[in-house]
Amino acid sequence: MAELLEVRNLSKRFKGVRALQDVSFHIRQGETVGLIGPNGAGKSTLVNVLCGQLQHDAGDIMLEGTDFSGMRSHQRCHIGLSRTYQIPRPFPDLVVLYNVIPSVLCGRKDSSPNLEEATKEALYYLEFVGLSDKQHTEARDLTIYELRLLELARALATKPRLLFVDEVMAGLNPGETDKAVELMSSIKQTFGVTICWIEHVMSVLMEAAQRIIALDRGIKIADGTPEEVANDQKVIEAYLGSEWRQYA
Ligand SMILES: Nc1ncnc2c1ncn2[C@@H]1O[C@H](COP(=O)(O)OP(=O)(O)O)[C@@H](O)[C@H]1O
Ligand SMILES: [Mg+2]
Repeated sequence: MAELLEVRNLSKRFKGVRALQDVSFHIRQGETVGLIGPNGAGKSTLVNVLCGQLQHDAGDIMLEGTDFSGMRSHQRCHIGLSRTYQIPRPFPDLVVLYNVIPSVLCGRKDSSPNLEEATKEALYYLEFVGLSDKQHTEARDLTIYELRLLELARALATKPRLLFVDEVMAGLNPGETDKAVELMSSIKQTFGVTICWIEHVMSVLMEAAQRIIALDRGIKIADGTPEEVANDQKVIEAYLGSEWRQYA
């Protein structure tokens, strides 16, 4: 597998807080990479600096060898980076369909579908995530689960090459969690997109990810197969706790 994303010595500081310290890793084309770590580890900050919502202080970020640190977030979207937000960010006053159409119209560089085509495509993604019956509902009236589906529909509608998913299952009940896991699997199968998945439910990543990266207080503490990372002493101490010794 070829390398799609390369991150070298990435650092980001918020006043006194070193949210990312010299973080280096890569993601290969086609991989599903899990990103774990305790609250405040820097996971969301990492997505924010890669997708352009925040500017990093130091380090190199490259997509297929091209440095994209000078690009704004919409330009990063155009080269294939897309993401969902841990706290969903819909246009609350717009209906669900109108929340997805802008992703089709503005999320891609080379295609310029007309409104009719864009509507059709937006409906396809709503159908795909299971939200088509809510297309006329204002986003403010959605449940947290439906908002997470909407985040995924909007991200997919930009046709990403690398999709960052930030805690898609947080706050869901067990039935919704199962459905979300299934949806993530069909996203992989249908679109073949490379995924970086921030997730606290470790058993889900043990199944879905080929590799897991662990952060703690802004520092990368592990990077390996799910089994390697689940058995890593630093990861167990910082995050997982001793029940994960079962993988030893
Ligand atoms: N926009 C921000 N301004 C100030 N501090 C921030 C900001 N975003 C994150 N932080 C801080 O950076 C650290 C990492 O946060 P975050 O990346 O959200 O962690 P995680 O997603 O792993 O829980 C935390 O200490 C957090 O309080
Ligand atoms: Mg976070």
